[in-house]
Amino acid sequence: MTWPRGADERGTVTARPPSDPLIRLRDVTHRTLLVETTAASDANEVYERLRLQWGSVAPVDLEPGVPAWLVLGHDEAVGVLRDDRTFIKDPSIWHGHAENLLGPQSALHLVLPRAPKPTLADADGAKHARMRPPVDDALSQVDEARAAAITRRLCGMLIDRFEDRGRADLVAEYAAVVPFLALSELDGLEPGQAQRLQEITRAIFESGAAARERTVELLEIVTEHIAHSRRLGTRDIAGVLAVHDNFESDLERAQTLTAITLAANEALLAWIAQTLALVLSDPRFSNRVSGGRLHIDDALDEVLWRSTTNPNLMPRFATREVVIGDKLIERGAAVVVGVHAANHDPLVQSADPWDTVGNRAYLSFGAGPHRCPAPRLGRVIARIAVAELLQRLQVTLVGDPDKVEWATSPWMRFPARLPVTFPPPVSPPAPGAWPPGPAEFAH
Ligand code: HEM
Repeated sequence: MTWPRGADERGTVTARPPSDPLIRLRDVTHRTLLVETTAASDANEVYERLRLQWGSVAPVDLEPGVPAWLVLGHDEAVGVLRDDRTFIKDPSIWHGHAENLLGPQSALHLVLPRAPKPTLADADGAKHARMRPPVDDALSQVDEARAAAITRRLCGMLIDRFEDRGRADLVAEYAAVVPFLALSELDGLEPGQAQRLQEITRAIFESGAAARERTVELLEIVTEHIAHSRRLGTRDIAGVLAVHDNFESDLERAQTLTAITLAANEALLAWIAQTLALVLSDPRFSNRVSGGRLHIDDALDEVLWRSTTNPNLMPRFATREVVIGDKLIERGAAVVVGVHAANHDPLVQSADPWDTVGNRAYLSFGAGPHRCPAPRLGRVIARIAVAELLQRLQVTLVGDPDKVEWATSPWMRFPARLPVTFPPPVSPPAPGAWPPGPAEFAH
């Protein structure tokens, strides 16, 4: 039988007795694919359609035939993120394992492995409570002025590499590189080591089956770096983790250092690239930034409100049956918090777009025990990366600004490419010439 609410070709509820007011995942056929939310040219369109149809929690597919609940309501999202006893990160309790839902080629094996993952972001309860304080200690001691100086120097070095060419891809050659190099330097890694780690990390994401061997290699390098930092007594991120008593082994320290670096890299890539995409494709926005009415920080905030970098958080798994609205979340179900949708929940949104200026009440840094430990440091790096590029080059986006192609990740939203052109650099004035050109005052 067909349940009247939400019954259309996109989401049909079937096989439910009329006496049962609750909707279960398995009752729903034709679920929306999660990646549709991140690939849409208008980030709001798919979420709003789902909200209209299903309310605060919607059924989706992570891949065809792999169902999950997507939480769209702001209060419900905060509730899930804060309740880390009911919604845990350990994927071994996911019902899909017993039902063999993942085919051998599925890209979800990394996200939904059968065994618990060892990293901080995937730890629950007592283990997470033990591993999180060292991360807070290590990140809170980072000197923001030093982080800014490092980022500025790295940005300059990267811009130098493509400046003479008059064209570049700002994702591959800039946004994807600045955060990894900046974090690596704050981790105390040498440039050669950082480059090797980035190569291995890329290979892990591209290599599927060979990912395990690459991960071993990566952890060997980072474990050696931890031991080296302890011998030298450094006070960088690795040095703080190296002597922290909360860890049980150097392997745990290495896994944590790797997790910090990768978490920062992904989120910052998306934040920097999205802000540049917005500035370059929306004349109203770029005029506002260059016209000085809004600071770069406001531009960064507007991105997190309008089209956040991490619209869907990696799944949690229900440890018991829970009812949210008219949905029954069964034990073992995968639950994805829709950060973008929660940010746009009409119950918390103001109709006045100026209310978002200076307002940082978005969920883009998460909430609850796993909330991001580095929103300030992240902002320093993103702000410098965007500002340096806009100050150094007069870039123009190549192609139709309305047809920016988005990366095909269901979890992150960022442009796959940002091809730009810019005029070649003006030759510097001869030594001793006066007055100096504006470029010399830029820093
Ligand atoms: C220096 C930059 C950054 C570092 C070092 C960093 C590090 C981390 C780490 C280690 C975690 C896991 C915390 C835990 O599980 O206890 C985390 C979580 C998170 N980060 Fe960041 N991050 C950075 C930048 C960002 C940015 C720019 C964003 C988005 C704008 C972001 C969004 C998040 C979110 C939403 C979570 C929570 C994920 C969840 O609950 O599933 N982070 N971050």
